[in-house]
Amino acid sequence: MTEKQSIIIDTDPGQDDAIAILLALASPELDVLGITAVAGNVPLKLTETNIRKICELAEMPHVKVYAGSDKPMKRQLFTAEYVHGETGLNGVQLPEPNMPLQKQHAVDFIIETVLSHPEKSVTLCTLGPLTNIGHALVKTPEIVPRIKELVMMGGGLFEGGNVTPAAEFNIYVDPDAAKLVFDSGIPIVVMPLDVTHKALTTRTRISAFRALGTKVGKASAGWLDFFERFDEEKYGTDGGPLHDPNVIAYLLEPKIYSGRHINVEIETESELTVGMTVADYWNVTEKPKNAIWITDLEADGFFDLILNRLAKFT
Ligand code: BDR
Ligand code: CA
Repeated sequence: MTEKQSIIIDTDPGQDDAIAILLALASPELDVLGITAVAGNVPLKLTETNIRKICELAEMPHVKVYAGSDKPMKRQLFTAEYVHGETGLNGVQLPEPNMPLQKQHAVDFIIETVLSHPEKSVTLCTLGPLTNIGHALVKTPEIVPRIKELVMMGGGLFEGGNVTPAAEFNIYVDPDAAKLVFDSGIPIVVMPLDVTHKALTTRTRISAFRALGTKVGKASAGWLDFFERFDEEKYGTDGGPLHDPNVIAYLLEPKIYSGRHINVEIETESELTVGMTVADYWNVTEKPKNAIWITDLEADGFFDLILNRLAKFT
């Protein structure tokens, strides 16, 4: 087998974050060095607890989980209980976790891990607001050339926004952190709404998770049932978009994705469009290209991948 890819998952679970974490933990190609919590879909106390609940569901209590930022770098926290429910993981009742939360702060864990691993060997996978990464960049800018890549779920161009007409949730919550990331020089891959809106949790796909008959299969189906209700109504589709697992699936099967290397900047000032990913898809500015902007996926391949991997859990 080729060498494992070392990753840190930074996340705010979230039902779709939960599926992404399970996909990573089920994949032998990935070495999950740690999972860091950020405030986003729900407050930090819940996101860090939810990560530990998910690890215990996967029967992997040895995974290292770190709590990070409880609010955006410069703004008040905006949460999304209206999508994910008050726990962030509504749809399934999981027991309170026994596994420990690590003592180290997530930002310090990210810095220390990137500095202590071989240059360009650690990939950051971000599934929520970019606050922890923003703080790490301010505290220790020396990490930039050492990071292999940052693969994120966030933003939107052709699909617009999902919190405001211009802004997607993860960028909207902490646009200042997102700006630091996009301006940093780290190689970035973006899974925006443009692609995640093509990864729909149809009835048939959810049934396939339930048919696994396992704890993880049933939990996944329960989460997706809950999570999609809101989006189906909003978008009028069969199923809601499954956002965050695209970040992990990209690492496992990059061939199912296509996109374009472009310049992306973040709006932090305008009241109307704050949190907008200003993505220069047509290269009208000729500014340096700083991100691979994914627009398409092979959706059946994506769901087959998740289903096959999650089948390994009990
Ligand atoms: C993103 O926001 C959250 O609600 C989801 O978990 C995903 O990361 C989609 O806009
Ligand atoms: Ca998320």
